Amino acid sequence: MINGLIHNTFGLQVTAAEYLEYRSEKELQGFIAEGKVKAPFLHVGSGSNLLFLQERYEGTVLHSLIKGIEVTTENDTEVFLRVGAGEVWDDFVDFCVKHQWYGAENLSLIPGEVGASAVQNIGAYGVEVKDLIASVETIGIDGQKRVFQLDECQYAYRDSIFKRPEMKNYFVTFVNFRLSKVEHYRLDYGTIRKELGGVLPVSLPLVRQTIIRIRQSKLPDPEVLGNAGSFFTNPIVSREKWQSLLEQYPKMPYYEVDETHVKIPAGWMIEQAGWKGKALGPAGVHDKQALVLVNYGGANGADILALSNAVCQDVKKLFGIEIHPEVNFIRS
Ligand code: EPU
Repeated sequence: MINGLIHNTFGLQVTAAEYLEYRSEKELQGFIAEGKVKAPFLHVGSGSNLLFLQERYEGTVLHSLIKGIEVTTENDTEVFLRVGAGEVWDDFVDFCVKHQWYGAENLSLIPGEVGASAVQNIGAYGVEVKDLIASVETIGIDGQKRVFQLDECQYAYRDSIFKRPEMKNYFVTFVNFRLSKVEHYRLDYGTIRKELGGVLPVSLPLVRQTIIRIRQSKLPDPEVLGNAGSFFTNPIVSREKWQSLLEQYPKMPYYEVDETHVKIPAGWMIEQAGWKGKALGPAGVHDKQALVLVNYGGANGADILALSNAVCQDVKKLFGIEIHPEVNFIRS
């Protein structure tokens, strides 16, 4: 909360009827016991993946300020860490890189907080946060603690059990991670190897710096230009559909998913549909990465929604493929 406004990286002016921040599980349990967490409620991180469609949320907004990065156990090859949901994600990545722990470096500079990372299953450059998670600790709206082991979290591409409507009653308080002490890197995604430019030896700080450089060259800084990173997920289509498109667009980029499915970059399709660098009122499609919608100043949720709908329609018309927002729409 800044000046009575809920923080969100689109830079939308949004207020809430009630705003609660807590620094410990006990404090959250206290709010619940006192009846302060009344429906409707919304748990937010730093608002880096939210689109508020109204200017006021008529309910209670909750935010975790639980901090701390604690080593719980370690052996020769692995370290287990318990991290407060309110820690800034990239501070955690930086901490791991400085301690020579492997696994999180490709997720450098992703905006947001640790709690939200486990809900959204954030991902970049061939790594998803699920690859690092051991378990997720929550407090339910009944005040009870519940820990979800990795196999209970139903992780998929930008998805988890915590995104199901009925799971809005659980608030993530800590995430337990498993990092490796054994030197290894994931460099085969996109342009990482090219960007490393044959510099040897590869090191964790070098990979982190490279990822940061790639992201900064494509993704706008929300402090300068409001945005929520990728606005849409990359659609997963059947191999038949992919093959028929490939005949028409031989240079179309794609990612293999499984034997029967392929993922097509929505940013590429949006560019083909002519939207890259275009605006609709105060909202626009970023000129360096068409998957990112931006607020050129003074946009509200409805302006961004109108742009999103127009982009989806044109992609559907051109490719016959529906693209869906990755950003969570908040209506109240
Ligand atoms: N492309 C275009 N035009 C564009 C944008 C992309 O032709 O305007 C092409 C690129 O040339 C490339 C392909 O599409 O061939 C993929 O582009 P990129 O590597 O930039 O990644 P992406 O698929 O658009 C995903 C994630 C990003 C993540 C990057 C890197 C999703 C929804 N997005 O984007 O995540 O950083 O890969 O791993 O999966 C986020 O979730 O907020 C996010 C930024």
